[in-house]
This record gives sequence, C-alpha cells and structure tokens, in this order.
Amino acid sequence: MSNKIKRSYIREILDATDEDTISFAGGLPDKEFFPLNQLSKASKKVFKNADCLQYSKSQGIEGLREKIASIYTNKLGFKTSKEEILITTGSQQAFDIILKSLDSKQVIVESPSYIGALGAFKILGKEIKDFKKLSELEKLINSSNILYAISDYQNPSTNVYSNKKRKNIASILNKSNSTLIEDGAYCFLNFKNKVKTPISKLYENSYHLGSFSKIVAPGLRLGWVRAKAENIDNLLAAKESLDLHTSTFNQMLVEQYLKDNDLFEHITKINDAYSKKMEYMAKCFKKYIPSFKFKKPEGGMFIYGSFDVDSMLLAKEALKENIAFVPAEVFYLDEKSNEARFNFTNATYKEIKMGIKKLSSILDNYTKKINS
Ligand SMILES: Cc1ncc(COP(=O)(O)O)c(C=O)c1O
Repeated sequence: MSNKIKRSYIREILDATDEDTISFAGGLPDKEFFPLNQLSKASKKVFKNADCLQYSKSQGIEGLREKIASIYTNKLGFKTSKEEILITTGSQQAFDIILKSLDSKQVIVESPSYIGALGAFKILGKEIKDFKKLSELEKLINSSNILYAISDYQNPSTNVYSNKKRKNIASILNKSNSTLIEDGAYCFLNFKNKVKTPISKLYENSYHLGSFSKIVAPGLRLGWVRAKAENIDNLLAAKESLDLHTSTFNQMLVEQYLKDNDLFEHITKINDAYSKKMEYMAKCFKKYIPSFKFKKPEGGMFIYGSFDVDSMLLAKEALKENIAFVPAEVFYLDEKSNEARFNFTNATYKEIKMGIKKLSSILDNYTKKINS
C-alpha cells in the first residue's frame, strides 16, 4: 500500500496559479482590508520589549487570551475566561491538537464539508462518516465519536444554522454524549454584522474554534480553541509536540492591535465591502452564466452553486485558460457533484467581471464539445 499522502486540491490549485490567473479558488480575504498601518504601529510598540522574540507559554500569552475570552463573553453572549482559551497556529492546527488529545476513532461531518478539516481527519487515520439531514446525524452519533460542525457561513455551502437548528443539534449531542468540534472561522462575517450564539454554549463537551485569519489577516497564523479548562490541559501536550507555542511576536502584535483599535469597527468595514463584492459577483453570474444556480449568501466569502455540466471537468478546462474555482467534488467524501465554490473576496471587481465573462465562453465551448 502506498504511503503517499494526498494534498489538498485547493492548495494544489493555489500552487498551479500564477499572476495571469484569475483565482476564485482559495478562501483568501481581500488584502485591501489588512490593517497594515495599525499593525505597523503596533509592531513598533511590541519591538520595544525583547520578550516579543522570547519563547512563551504553550497555552498562549495571557493578554491575548483575555481579549479573546472577552469577545466570547461580550459579543457572542458566551461567558468565557482566559483559562478556557488556547492559542493555536491558525485554527487549522486545532484539528490536529484536538483529535490527538481524544481517543475517538470516528468523526462525523456534514456533507459537503471544509476540505482542510477532512484532510486533517484523514491524515490522523480517523474514519469519517457524513450526514445531510439531522435524522441521519442522530443515527450516526454516539458517545465515542466526534461531530465536526461549521455553524456559520459553512465552507463551502455558505449555509448558516438557524437558532432552532443549533438547539436541535445541542439536544442530539446531549442525548448521545458525543464530542463537538464547532468551527467558528466565519462567525463574525455576517453582512449585517449580526452574530449567532454558538452551539458550544448549549453543550459543554465542546471545542469552539476561532481565527484572526478572516477578520485581521491570515498570514499571522493566529487561531484559538475555546474549551472547558480541564480539556485545555489535555490539548497542551499535543500542542507542545507540534510547535511548543504559537509565535510570541504575532500574539503580542495582535494583542497590541486589539488594545489600540476597535476590532469590530474593522469587521463592520470588511462586512460592508464583502456584501457589495458578493452582490457584484452575483450580478455577473446572472448576466453571463444564468445557468449557474445559487442562493446569495448572508455572509462569509463564497458563492456556492450548481452547474448543469460536470463541474470537475469544467474546472479543469477553466484552469487551462487561467480561471480557477473549486469543483465541489473535493468537499464530499465519495459523491459526484456539479456544484462549485467561488471566492468573491480576493479578486478585484475588474477581475470578477473578466473572470466570469471568460468562464461563460469556456462553458459554452465545453458544452459544445460534449454535445458534439
Ligand atoms: C471553515 C474553516 N475552518 C478553518 C480554516 C482554517 O483557517 P486558519 O487556519 O487560517 O485559521 C478555514 C480556512 O479557510 C476554514 O474555511
């Protein structure tokens, strides 16, 4: 049997693209909104203290953990203390750490699901089971497995769980005594700046993941886990075996940034801009590719819809012509799909128009080819 590990299809597309490619593939935020000046000012302050380049605590620096805990308490209505926060190197690292700290051999995911989580579960040899309806989840879940759920602006489907669905999932968890990993990577990216209470507030045996990637900048690689204090202890050994701790400098930088700036004013700006860009991409689809069926998202960074041709083959044709998007097959465990995910935050308005227009002629040529 080959030991070769399959890479993420999206990371491979990112490697295959160059400056001539119009990419709707990655989940990249709009770099126009990286708070460069504010971070630059914060970095000058941080550099006055040599501790910024020193080793630091595995759980993360206290000041930043306090700030994250207060976001939970004050913005998400979920009372949290700094003892319940562990800083991770991107929220991606949290999958590895959490799974290594638990005995569970099986993870349940909603279908389709985040490719980075599926990759992390596979590499750790976990058996993955998927569900579409809560009735299916109810049958699969038990006290020795784990549910992975993205409650807000799911990647890729863009779905958001209603408050009722959150309660239903919490009640299923309570009955089964399972473990919840709730991914909140996009939880603040609602176009109207509304947030919903995490399921984790309703179910104690949970790990809620958060990230500065989509609300400050992903290159800082700063994420976190919110969990019961006793579970945090179990995570530390796994974290230490990977990187001892997350970059001290980056943690101090973001702590300083949060002291000097109003993060939620910044998030409001991002949400306004993303809402407009999403509307523009939606308009381009309606004009140039009316056969692409989608529901406009209420937040997040993607438009997700369905072609009436094979989206995997179309994506391959498009990539030859320097247009990148993600065919949804890669988000499913074992299912053909004509769905596709388009990121609208990274490309400029001009690129969005050019890219969708060009994709329309690629689709026409492809349709003629398969019908001839
Ligand atoms: C749903 C979801 N979770 C987690 C991540 C990982 O983000 P990061 O490691 O940058 O915090 C991503 C990145 O795109 C994501 O879409």
